[in-house]
Amino acid sequence: MKTRVVRGGARGWVAAVALGVVAASLASPRAGVGSAADEDAELLKEAQGLFKPIAAAKPDASGGLVELGRKLFFDPRISADGTVSCSRCHLATLYSTDGLAKSRGANNKPLARNAPTLFNTADQFAQHWDGVFDSVEAQAKKALTGAGFGNPSFDAAMTKLKGIAGYPPLFARTFPGEADPVTPDNWAKAIGAFERTLVTPSRFDEYLGGKADALSADERKGLRTFIDTGCAECHEGAGLGGTGYRKFGVSSDYWLQTHSQEVDKGRFNLTKNPSDMYRFKVPQLRNAAMTPPYFHDGSVAALPEAVRVMAKVQLDTELSADEAKSIATFLGSLTGEVPEHYAKAPVLPPGSFDPGPAPK
Ligand code: HEC
Ligand code: HEC
Repeated sequence: MKTRVVRGGARGWVAAVALGVVAASLASPRAGVGSAADEDAELLKEAQGLFKPIAAAKPDASGGLVELGRKLFFDPRISADGTVSCSRCHLATLYSTDGLAKSRGANNKPLARNAPTLFNTADQFAQHWDGVFDSVEAQAKKALTGAGFGNPSFDAAMTKLKGIAGYPPLFARTFPGEADPVTPDNWAKAIGAFERTLVTPSRFDEYLGGKADALSADERKGLRTFIDTGCAECHEGAGLGGTGYRKFGVSSDYWLQTHSQEVDKGRFNLTKNPSDMYRFKVPQLRNAAMTPPYFHDGSVAALPEAVRVMAKVQLDTELSADEAKSIATFLGSLTGEVPEHYAKAPVLPPGSFDPGPAPK
């Protein structure tokens, strides 16, 4: 790893220790031979300046909104072919992903990108790899007619929803006083409310709360390498990401390292602005150890390799295999528990679905 000047107020010292270049800067607070306890205290303080803890979601005080959203999330009958629910690609058993490089939607149609986890997603400043949606609600509404569900129109989707006798009364109870409560907006409000409860605090949050030994010595070492390499310049805040857009491939083309089959131009596809070429949302890293494959196209299967690629293309840094593994070990401390009300699928209102003739 090469020595980096870490930008930003309290972090404006030279991270020379990783190279053993102790004499590089006498002004550096870590240049002297500090005790292990001093170094741990310093690391905790730095981490508290860069990242924010998250807390478990409160019990449902929404008057049934979360529970309705939970049902809708698991219901395949609202899709074009009756087989696609949100949970098809955001499976609780795979930490809210599907394990595929790129997801498959209704009638097995391939989608353009990899499915990110929905845990803690509502916290991110924008949704989807290119940030096309500004909230989980906006995303959930548009999903009705997207390639995943494959419905030709909102009306077609609402007709399916109303065709299941149990839903209209549930919507009426959840949205009292509305003449026709079965709407795409209410679908989105309910599913969004459910998603907002999918919060997964981990040992890292105890650590940020001041309990230095909530992370093992190896995890703390990985955290030190994560910070000194410069990862936190982009992966910061409560999600260790999810706070801004950055180019994928700052110092060299990403596809040379990921061996991506297709080159995705990211936000440029949306804005046609040349400065958005290859720009993507910096994804959150919570639960990353549980959500391979990595990157917008699922082009990298293993976390240490994803870490190596990041250092190479974002920071022009060659990590040793040990350093990449050490950072991956730290990222493992961001794994929380799958929320119970997600792990356990709900019972849905009964009703059959006729998808028409099977596609050839
Ligand atoms: C066919 C697979 C599939 C289905 C079904 C599906 N998703 Fe996704 N989801 C994806 C993929 C792929 C992405 C990434 C899309 C992109 O960025 O271009 C994604 C992204 C998201 C995101 C953004 C996460 C982030 O980190 O930016 C949210 C939120 C989300 N989905 C919620 C839902 C909800 C709610 C439903 C049901 C209404 C749903 N998804 C149904 C595959 C699916
Ligand atoms: C200049 C900003 C920047 C820096 C620095 C950076 N990243 Fe990233 N990171 C990104 C962006 C943007 C993506 C999304 C890439 C894509 O389109 O797939 C990403 C993606 C990732 C992913 C894949 C997440 C997933 O769910 O697929 C991991 C893991 C990751 N980064 C870890 C790191 C590590 C570890 C470092 C330090 C070695 C680092 N990043 C440095 C911006 C950055």
